[in-house]
Amino acid sequence: MEKPKYFIKTFGCQMNTNDSERLGGLLTSVGFEVSEDETKADLVILNTCSIRDHAEQRIMGFMEQYINRKKNGERLLVAVTGCMAGRDKDGALRKRVKVADLFFATAEMVNLPRWIAELRPEWIIEGDAVEDYLKINPKRESSIQAYISIQTGCNHFCTYCVVPYARGLVRNRPLQDILDEANNLVENGIREITLLGQVVNAYKATDHHVFKSFNPYQNHFAALLWELNQIDGLERIHWTAAHPVDMDDQVIHALTLPKQVNYLHLPVQSGSNEILRKMNRKYTREKFLEIVEKINRARPGIALGTDIIVGFCGETDKDFEETIDLFKTCDFDISYTAQYSPRSGTLAYRLYSDDVSSETKKQRWQTLQNLMEETTLRKNKTYQDKVVKVFVENRDGDWLLGTNEELKRVRIKASELQIPPGSIIQAKITKPMTWILEGEIIQNPE
Ligand code: SAH
Ligand code: SF4
Ligand code: F3S
Repeated sequence: MEKPKYFIKTFGCQMNTNDSERLGGLLTSVGFEVSEDETKADLVILNTCSIRDHAEQRIMGFMEQYINRKKNGERLLVAVTGCMAGRDKDGALRKRVKVADLFFATAEMVNLPRWIAELRPEWIIEGDAVEDYLKINPKRESSIQAYISIQTGCNHFCTYCVVPYARGLVRNRPLQDILDEANNLVENGIREITLLGQVVNAYKATDHHVFKSFNPYQNHFAALLWELNQIDGLERIHWTAAHPVDMDDQVIHALTLPKQVNYLHLPVQSGSNEILRKMNRKYTREKFLEIVEKINRARPGIALGTDIIVGFCGETDKDFEETIDLFKTCDFDISYTAQYSPRSGTLAYRLYSDDVSSETKKQRWQTLQNLMEETTLRKNKTYQDKVVKVFVENRDGDWLLGTNEELKRVRIKASELQIPPGSIIQAKITKPMTWILEGEIIQNPE
């Protein structure tokens, strides 16, 4: 009998991408196969994001096609999972996606085989049950880069944010599981790993006896980075997202470990103390600047990225100017800027009014976007004629595509050269632009 086919559509952050890989691993282990073509899939799963209203609206928009397909008599199973399902405590969102046969929070994916067996008894379900979704082996597409979720959930309760509701309180994976996963990936050719967690730098190992006795760090996250640095064959380590309050001295020191990329993502959200307080970010502008200074001192030249929300409740022109000023002082290499979107269930939704007009939000967003683009171009121009180390990810015609140590996108003219993905090459930058550095190869992979 032919295997049933699944197709997963992923929205939202890298953590969702990694969860979708887990769903893929789970479904494959019980006898499914992936379908390249959504219209040929027997089971479609939407792994959703709730971070802003727009993200949820988009998902609602997708439902129409499934209603039509079902009306046309297709025996399609539709499942909705991810943060939208996770945060839907009162069933209001569930009601709005009636077409879905299954609707479940991410951690409940372990029940999926049973639910499928109940709805489609004719599909063969193989394999053993798993109790913890974080133990499911992800089915990854890339053979050179991998995400490793080391933690899920969040205890911070920033007042604007759905994540603690959607994913629950923080849960850290055992150190042994993370090290086993990393070693296994590297044995299979992976050369770059990205550690994922909502507050990744607050990682705590439940099994800290696993740390080597000569590991120089006591802070669990810094110690984890050190352990990963010992893995032969692993070239680059990256992690996201860090919370400023957990950037302690040891974590900052660990930025100098040899495999650490020369980039750190450090969301600030706002440059105004009043707004930071209302957001419950637990640091001040001064504290944030002090951390950035320490980081720059520990690793001069490190590229910094951030997240900023504009138009949060009560944000005045003066508050916004403080954000602009902080952006300039930190000289961020990249910023993911979002217009505040009120989310039901969060503290800000209950406590404050969404009183910045959408017009003003848009203007502030554009101002920051322009500032970022100017900054990015100015910084990228400093690469002119410089030699950089490029991690090659793939090829597009005559171009090798990849990133440099600061995680900036690079394309290298290499028409005749056969250079496999995962190689690290030396290239000279000949044409720096805002979103990409163009260059030529000067040395073949080592
Ligand atoms: N855990 C990470 C990021 C979580 S969500 C951190 O603490 O930084 C990713 C980004 O989405 C946030 O950094 C924030 O900038 C943005 N975001 C979260 N909730 C939002 C909301 N209600 N409206 C607009 N942007 C939001
Ligand atoms: Fe959301 Fe704040 Fe937790 Fe980040 S730290 S996931 S912004 S609550
Ligand atoms: Fe979205 Fe959930 Fe990630 S809300 S940003 S998918 S943690």
